[in-house]
Amino acid sequence: MEREKTGIEGLDNIIGGGLPKNSITLVSGPPGSGKSIFCLQFLFEGLKEGEKCLFLTLDKKVEGIITQAEELGINFQSEIEKNLVKFLFLNINKKLIYESMTNEILSGGYDRIVLDSITPLSEMPIYLKNDEYNSDISVISPEDLSSNSNIPVRRIHLRYILTTLESANSTSIITSELPAGSLLLSRDGISEFLADGVIVLSLDPTMDRRKLSVMKMRNTKHTLKPQDILIENGGIKLI
Ligand SMILES: Nc1ncnc2c1ncn2[C@@H]1O[C@H](COP(=O)(O)OP(=O)(O)OP(=O)(O)O)[C@@H](O)[C@H]1O
Ligand SMILES: [Mg+2]
Repeated sequence: MEREKTGIEGLDNIIGGGLPKNSITLVSGPPGSGKSIFCLQFLFEGLKEGEKCLFLTLDKKVEGIITQAEELGINFQSEIEKNLVKFLFLNINKKLIYESMTNEILSGGYDRIVLDSITPLSEMPIYLKNDEYNSDISVISPEDLSSNSNIPVRRIHLRYILTTLESANSTSIITSELPAGSLLLSRDGISEFLADGVIVLSLDPTMDRRKLSVMKMRNTKHTLKPQDILIENGGIKLI
């Protein structure tokens, strides 16, 4: 099985060399747990391997993310200029957000894709004009969405995003916000079942510690034990 190195020191060793190629991994955790930093490191590692990378953001304007990366010593500037990495802000208030996203994912020829975070998408209605992406989601009407059948609709909604990522033949990470102390593995309670892998980041304020747990990883033997991590210059590392 081909693997994609994560760029996170110590993590690849405990997941058989890296994320399975062409898989989708959900990275979830409470605010400030390191989800976005995880994604930045993952893409930076891809660039080192000569891969083409895409960062889709729904939370923050692109400039903020690039500055955050620079503060950690991760500099994307020259790769952005060479078109090897693209940062794209998707405005959740735009109806055609799905089209912009799907177009970019399917036409960009990306080896690595990050979607940070999936939470706002999983909570919005779906607007699709036609079935040009061959998705079963196009059969869902606005009436279906406004009905009370919230959970199954949401599931299809998330499946649509994941299917798009799968058909791009890239290795992807999606992040999900998780309220502190949540028993679920994602905010929507669904993505963890659809993704190939799940990594949970957590905070222990009392002990002043951060942890990373691999909860699921397709075709991989791994420990479930939470690993101590640090965030410092360069990003996250296992200690
Ligand atoms: N240069 C740095 N050195 C050490 N720690 C840092 C540095 N930059 C950020 N951090 C730590 O990383 C945290 C932010 O990480 P990140 O933005 O990846 O979290 P997140 O899980 O994406 O949060 P959110 O859900 O709010 O988007 C900060 O709260 C801080 O604790
Ligand atoms: Mg973030």
